[in-house]
Amino acid sequence: MQPAATAVAEDAPPARTNAQDTESWPFGVRRSTPAIGAEITGIDFARPLDDETYLALRRALLKFKVLFFRDQHITPAQHVAVARRFGELEVHPMIPHHPEHPELVVFGRDGSARGRENLYHSDVTWREVPSMGSMLRCVSCPEVGGDTIWVNMVAAYENLPDEMKAKIARLRAVHDAMPTFGQALSDAKVEELRKKYPPMVHPVVRTHPETGEKILFVNEGFTTHFDNFSKVQPYRIGSDFRPAELDLLQYLFRQAAAPEYQVRLKWEPDTIALWDNRSTQHYAVQDYFPAPRHMNRATIIGDRPV
Ligand code: SIN
Repeated sequence: MQPAATAVAEDAPPARTNAQDTESWPFGVRRSTPAIGAEITGIDFARPLDDETYLALRRALLKFKVLFFRDQHITPAQHVAVARRFGELEVHPMIPHHPEHPELVVFGRDGSARGRENLYHSDVTWREVPSMGSMLRCVSCPEVGGDTIWVNMVAAYENLPDEMKAKIARLRAVHDAMPTFGQALSDAKVEELRKKYPPMVHPVVRTHPETGEKILFVNEGFTTHFDNFSKVQPYRIGSDFRPAELDLLQYLFRQAAAPEYQVRLKWEPDTIALWDNRSTQHYAVQDYFPAPRHMNRATIIGDRPV
């Protein structure tokens, strides 16, 4: 007796289309992960960006949150010029910058010290007005190692349990540059910078000014504590609320570490990443020491989180 015929894989397998995007774009778009990131092709930042392409890039930035561009052979001046299309650029008061372009922060690791950007953070959340985005270009990097991870903090918020959303809805948190940047500075310099850049209070859940999305807006790089966690209650002693406060903050920080919300980029010289700093966090993997790695970043000024 013949065995019952089994369905043979004669039918073509379903097309693997989830890297493609359904919208139409004036450049190539290939999604990096379902949650975040897209590789953009057909753009040359050495040429002036026409308005149609610029507007489409802005739209893509809101949608994918971080965009990757390979083989962008541009000068530091061109880097500044193209980043400036997206908004005014800031000069970072604590990280070294390019000798001719103060708007370009330089992350230059020559093998004598480790990079210190290996913690999940959004840039400059210790400012009253944190940045709207950043454009990071790889000048040189190791063949393996030194990747960067970005995290979709809209997804991180959306997937929180409803009780947690209710709990954090009205919380505010304090952001301070000094616990991170102060480590490498003298006490006198820390004091001077603290006067100029005092800790800032921002909502724990901010609303994206362009998309209206809600964003989990605390990060382990700069957020130190909640501003309004405890109400006056009959505590046993005045610090009884602290363990619960610290647990909650740690829990919120940990959301950024979920691989489901992440994309990880392997750099090559002249790769550029452009990210929305309002809705993402990033982490520079520090696994390459003592190999050298050299990056330039232009940081675009944003608006006050609400
Ligand atoms: C940064 O934190 O902006 C630096 C990221 C990197 O060097 O990959």
